Amino acid sequence: MKVGVIGSGSMGSGIAQVASTADCQVVLYDTSAAAIERSKAKLSKIMKRLLEKERISAEKATQIQNNINYVNSLKDFATCDLIIEAIVENAEIKRKVFVELESYVSDECIIASNTSSLSITSLAAALVKPERCIGIHFFNPAPLMKLVEIIPAIQTADDVSVKAKSTIDSWGKLTVIAKDTPGFIVNKVARPFYSEALRIYEEGIADFATIDWAMSELAGFKMGPFTLMDFIGNDVNYVVTETVFKSFYFDPRYKPAFTQKRLSEAGYHGRKTGRGYYEYQEGAINPEPTKNEILGQEIVDRIITMLINEAADTLHFNIASKEDIDIAMTKGVNYPKGLLSWADELGIQTCVDGMDALYAEYHEDRYRCSPLLRKMAKSEETFFNIKTTHD
Ligand SMILES: NC(=O)c1ccc[n+]([C@@H]2O[C@H](COP(=O)([O-])OP(=O)(O)OC[C@H]3O[C@@H](n4cnc5c(N)ncnc54)[C@H](O)[C@@H]3O)[C@@H](O)[C@H]2O)c1
Repeated sequence: MKVGVIGSGSMGSGIAQVASTADCQVVLYDTSAAAIERSKAKLSKIMKRLLEKERISAEKATQIQNNINYVNSLKDFATCDLIIEAIVENAEIKRKVFVELESYVSDECIIASNTSSLSITSLAAALVKPERCIGIHFFNPAPLMKLVEIIPAIQTADDVSVKAKSTIDSWGKLTVIAKDTPGFIVNKVARPFYSEALRIYEEGIADFATIDWAMSELAGFKMGPFTLMDFIGNDVNYVVTETVFKSFYFDPRYKPAFTQKRLSEAGYHGRKTGRGYYEYQEGAINPEPTKNEILGQEIVDRIITMLINEAADTLHFNIASKEDIDIAMTKGVNYPKGLLSWADELGIQTCVDGMDALYAEYHEDRYRCSPLLRKMAKSEETFFNIKTTHD
């Protein structure tokens, strides 16, 4: 199979590496010659490291690098079977590239976008044959993250969805199917992990370190929300939240927090700038958490309940299957458990009670319980037929 990748930044380079490792012939294009050079150098460094660690043979390393053909014109994509666009997150520029691209490729060529936040449907609409367009959303870094979200646009032909999914599966990835809605699965369902933690902090219930301690030590997440936001970058994480909020017509459930906006404005982006919620300079002393188990459990219950509610609502609106929602969160962002399985374990009624208690306290739409959870609690259903500990 011949694969085209447009954009040789972080994502494009990673996707090209994945396709090339899976023995595809890859054409990689970028408008910036410097970006192409960086991409080449990065791949060579990665190959060297994998060789040193004896993860691949010298032959395979050479083959992976030789499979990628760096080009400086979209005309070189003419014989591609699948093209994945990973350029700057700007709808107008992406659409312009799609229009030019379509004039060179065959009728059978699938044109995909790796966009995190734009509607696939709106990108597909730029094409003469919109049915060939689909979202193929990798996570960063693409060679290491197993999950890929496949997002058919409303125009996408069924055989295009089937082919896109089977191709990405054959590259050793784990695919889930998401409806073309803002944030797809992962970037939507994960919002409360950050926003409820920020809310707890803003209300003065606990500080960053204590919330992080509760979520990592008591709930089992690899990183607490503030450590993770500092890792992702507060600029990047804030924009995702704001985009999801705007795209959902200002649903208060996704409302961004001023605390993060101010950090982003100040340039306190996190690890990459040496300062975020925490300090990262050499010798920096960061606050210790208050290891109060009762407070910690309250924090965990509140954030997990909000996450479960978001996952349940995602199922309620048929954005993805229950299996795919749980796979997405465990494989895409390494959650310790699938959120819907977690709901079964806690008891659906417990989740409803948790949401209702928050709503009773705040009277904010942000804390409305998903109708699906309420319906399931009434009929004593579970997501995966797991008997709850509360039966
Ligand atoms: N970074 C992430 O964590 C992440 C994760 C998933 C998806 N995405 C999505 O992937 C896409 C790329 O993100 P990134 O982080 O790799 O960005 P990046 O800035 O690292 O790379 C973008 C590349 O596109 C090139 N480019 C810009 N306009 C172009 C054009 N018209 N034609 C060809 N090349 C062009 C730039 O020169 C740059 O090298 C975006 O749509 C983003 O939303 C990013």
